[in-house]
Amino acid sequence: MFCNRYLVNWMAKPKVYVTRELPERGMKIIRERFEAEVWPEYGPPPKETIIEKARDVDALVTLLSDKIDAEVFDAAPKLKIVAQMAVGFDNIDVGEATKRGIYVTNTPGVLTETTADFAWALLMAVARRVVEADRYVRTGQWKVSWHPSMLLGRDVYDATLGIVGAGRIGTAVARRAKGFNMKILYYDVVPMPPEIEKELDAKRVDLDTLFKESDFVSIHVPLIKETYHLVNEEKLRLMKKTAYLINNSRGPVVDEKALYKALKEGWIAGAALDVFEQEPTPMDNPLLRLDNVVVAPHISSASHETRSRMAEMVAENLVAFFEGKQPPNLVNPDVLKVRPLSRLF
Ligand code: GLV
Repeated sequence: MFCNRYLVNWMAKPKVYVTRELPERGMKIIRERFEAEVWPEYGPPPKETIIEKARDVDALVTLLSDKIDAEVFDAAPKLKIVAQMAVGFDNIDVGEATKRGIYVTNTPGVLTETTADFAWALLMAVARRVVEADRYVRTGQWKVSWHPSMLLGRDVYDATLGIVGAGRIGTAVARRAKGFNMKILYYDVVPMPPEIEKELDAKRVDLDTLFKESDFVSIHVPLIKETYHLVNEEKLRLMKKTAYLINNSRGPVVDEKALYKALKEGWIAGAALDVFEQEPTPMDNPLLRLDNVVVAPHISSASHETRSRMAEMVAENLVAFFEGKQPPNLVNPDVLKVRPLSRLF
């Protein structure tokens, strides 16, 4: 047994900087267990503020909009853990953290179903022109009660769904497709477990086949070097003219310039995007001028229940770590070799 100085001396609460007020369920635990300072504004703290605050803390609680890199680590001699409230952590230089013995955690699992629901909301909205229809009514364009060719979309039922990235979220999206009698194709470097493949009647194909044969291509990969601009001009040109692209993973997985060209020139029927190469996306992003594009401001995991649970997971990761235990959602297990818990406490 090693001695945990934070447990032994209750006065010495670890110091935590939290880059935004999290939902109460997580904040309550963080405030009780740590000496916490929270950035008070709705928008993110500037990088200089994060650097300044990092100087004196044991832990940082971050969101996906905070860039946490060598510059931050250089300024933070006491930093031991970065606890991120998101499943994705491409905003954190994890390699650099590991080298320096800094633990990094995320919040996987709890947001899977909520995010899959939203991929479906996007898919249905773009296929059946829900947002356009809403605008049509509100702007007084609905002047004829019913017309055989008013706002025609595409059928979802019986169509082919191509899932790029069949991890937790991709699989949850595929599972929902069964209720729509869809044919499921998927691409992933790792195959689905055979029993899931069988249950979903999902077929693993190469990426080109997936883009060629799908009526809906839904993206569920993390942003890493290999997935940057994975959806590029070449892939978009393979798609059917009647097909749709759905992305609620990370914006830079799709080359937006190529996507604009594809939509404008009619290589594909439409796109639904919850994520962008730059967030917030600038108002002059030409994609925003296209009627066959549905957009949302990166809200796929934004349900009351899920965001509360994510915040609670952040707190649980911190509490476990400062009790000298391996945090449940450690994303860089190699750090255990660089700086074992027994050497930290
Ligand atoms: C949201 O995009 C997340 O990674 O949790």
